[in-house]
Amino acid sequence: MPRLRHFIDLEEFTPEEVLQLLELAGEMEARVRYEKATQGGSPISPLLPYRVMASLFWEPSTRTRLSFETAMIRLGGSVVGFAEASTSSVAKGESLADTIRMSAHYADCIAMRHPKDGAAYLAGKFSTVPVLNGGDGGHLHPSQTLLDLYTIYKEFGTLGGLKIALCGDLLYGRTTHSLAVALAAFGSQCVAISPEELELPPHVLHHLASRYGGTVEQRRELAGGLDDVHVLYMTRIQRERFEDPEVYERVAHVYRLDRRILDGAPAEMIVMHPLPRLDEIAIEVDSDPRVRYFEQAFNGVPARMALLLVLMGHSRLFGKRGSNWRVPTVFEGTCSNRRCITHFDDNAAPEFYEFEPGKLACRYCDRVRDQLTLY
Ligand code: NCD
Repeated sequence: MPRLRHFIDLEEFTPEEVLQLLELAGEMEARVRYEKATQGGSPISPLLPYRVMASLFWEPSTRTRLSFETAMIRLGGSVVGFAEASTSSVAKGESLADTIRMSAHYADCIAMRHPKDGAAYLAGKFSTVPVLNGGDGGHLHPSQTLLDLYTIYKEFGTLGGLKIALCGDLLYGRTTHSLAVALAAFGSQCVAISPEELELPPHVLHHLASRYGGTVEQRRELAGGLDDVHVLYMTRIQRERFEDPEVYERVAHVYRLDRRILDGAPAEMIVMHPLPRLDEIAIEVDSDPRVRYFEQAFNGVPARMALLLVLMGHSRLFGKRGSNWRVPTVFEGTCSNRRCITHFDDNAAPEFYEFEPGKLACRYCDRVRDQLTLY
């Protein structure tokens, strides 16, 4: 039996391993296209027959949940689960840890999304089967990053030496946190375009600097300044994560990518968005040949098929195995992030790791300990 491996943070996989996942995603894409074109979608030969995936979504989702489920079914497996907490025992007050323990007995892997930062790490501690993080609050979204990287890799044939402009809600937009770190690991650079209130959180900036020596250029304006950018990655302002509706209203409509702005951007630049989109991309832009967001959403299926094949032990990754480098050394104290799962689940005992000599961060949500800024 392969050693249990979760997919909670993409950084626990080396860049070499990520590239192998992307190659495997390429094979899965070819397979799915062939099966759809020639045999109405039935698998040529099921790769994960009779395997069961628990799909546990405590927070709304369209693409992530549907593409995880489609991926499992296209591999010949089945899916059980819930798409909203109100239809599970969570509505009766069951803890995350207990739900996970039970599901691990029923299923062979667990794909999950939860509104609290660090929930996926907690789940991983209680699961005897692989946990796949489909988004934990405003923290991380590693499987989205995998399909984002796949989209970029298909386009440019590399993940290094690129410049990616992340635009919108970089504070709460978990997809940008995972993506910025993954791109740094491959030697690409990010430009962060956001209002002051929604800049990349300090823990992500600290992390980029201390682990990759990377600095992020911060900008306010979307128009102009895209000359040397390879990817413009737009995001929505995450209304549901704001504590103060007034702050939301102030920043809600600050960016809008329209034809005029795109006309001033390079011909080879591509436009991505994890979706759902609100008004940050005008519909008139959809027909521009540089647009990739719908293809990007399709890429979620092959990328997640690759992930399932590896975590379920069907396909092997070669070379050095990525490590769980954030080893907790301090087991007392309170996380300063009010949205951290440690404040909502008694099973989430405090854990902190040293990310720089003398500086601690919460193992669940990565928030720097004693951080005075509240966000
Ligand atoms: C993103 C998410 O849920 O974080 N969507 C997705 O998974 N495709 C982005 C968002 O909700 O804005």
